[in-house]
Amino acid sequence: MPADSEPLVGRHVLLGVSGGIAAYKAAALARDLVKAGATVQVVLTAGAARFVGPATFEGLTARPAHADVFAEPEHILHVRLAREADVAIFAPATANLLAKFAHGLADDLVTSVFTCLTCPVVLAPAMHTEMWLHPATQDNVALLARRGARVVGPADGDLAGGDVGPGRLADGGELLAAVRAAVAPPTGPLAGRRVVVTAGGTREPIDPVRYIGNRSSGRMGYALAAEAARRGAVVDLVSGPTALSAPAGVSVHHVETALEMRDAVLPLAEKAEIVIKAAAVADFRPATYHPQKLKKERDGLAHVALERNPDILAELGAVKNGRVLVGFAAETDLEEERGREKLHRKGLDLIVVNRVDFADAGFNVDTNRAVLLGEDGSRTEVPLTTKAELAAVILDRVEAVVLARLPGR
Ligand code: CTP
Repeated sequence: MPADSEPLVGRHVLLGVSGGIAAYKAAALARDLVKAGATVQVVLTAGAARFVGPATFEGLTARPAHADVFAEPEHILHVRLAREADVAIFAPATANLLAKFAHGLADDLVTSVFTCLTCPVVLAPAMHTEMWLHPATQDNVALLARRGARVVGPADGDLAGGDVGPGRLADGGELLAAVRAAVAPPTGPLAGRRVVVTAGGTREPIDPVRYIGNRSSGRMGYALAAEAARRGAVVDLVSGPTALSAPAGVSVHHVETALEMRDAVLPLAEKAEIVIKAAAVADFRPATYHPQKLKKERDGLAHVALERNPDILAELGAVKNGRVLVGFAAETDLEEERGREKLHRKGLDLIVVNRVDFADAGFNVDTNRAVLLGEDGSRTEVPLTTKAELAAVILDRVEAVVLARLPGR
């Protein structure tokens, strides 16, 4: 990035490091931040200092790396460090650190600094998959995101001990981009707007092993979230299980079932001005969840009773409060009439009718073709294109057709 457009030049970045194996990557992040022109102040938990000693960070940042809350009693160290920071990033943020942050505990230097921060905060979780997927961790991250923290990652990939799965610290480039995005005042046509995007398919469990799912890869929703963030929006992405990593500057909320998606989306939508529902939500879920794995002979798996899931989009459309609402319709033939009927029935401003029966469109491919139908009667046909480009066309429509309706900032 050219020096004159580098937002980190001269900025004070607080880098909090907690005790996970990914702590060694925090050293590279400290170096990257320094190279970008930032003054980097490192604070370490006791666990982090066991993985990487303060001397490493001091050598890279040319400043003392602190781990002791009592180090400078005359200055009240945690208050001073928090006040100096223009932006703070916690990388890696362990499950324990996120739990403490969420509940306001301040029992060491890193947590004490956190509770004093008023600047933008970036959290980069990294831990084993089981810890990441634990409901306590998911709830803590969701709570912190609702309070304004930007969450980057974790990525899916190799973990300590030879394991593979979600929990890996996001790439260095993504961490740097998130710090830049947090510190630079948002610019672009959606600057300052809050956007909620849903992506991926839901999984409706039958037993601990089996679920009812669909072929959605999440790529369309992730492309929309990335594009909205590029246009300056504050983006919350509520995602079903996918193999994709979080787009830069986007807070990702992971869910599995339609009911979990509803619980995540409704409170986020309250604060949002634009909601885009690209997720393929299962219309039905098994009426009963069996905590023990069913046996095909004994348990009669041939008949799984189903019940309806709530239609999240229709719920949002029923109480719009001025929000701009965009829905998707997956069709195997281009039934625009059905699309238009859905647009009105669900109270939408725009519906994206896309084909899922071509090899080059719909589920699990990078390309798509669609027709966008507006509540104002507009019709935009988008021939075969990448999902990134379709995302740009959708957001152009959101801006042009409906954003004008929203009050200015
Ligand atoms: N949707 C939702 N909650 C559901 C089901 C769908 O929010 N329980 C949203 C999807 O995110 C998408 C749109 O509604 O934006 C899809 O509408 P839906 O009526 O389910 O259409 P299709 O599944 O495409 O088609 P069908 O009419 O066959 O159900």
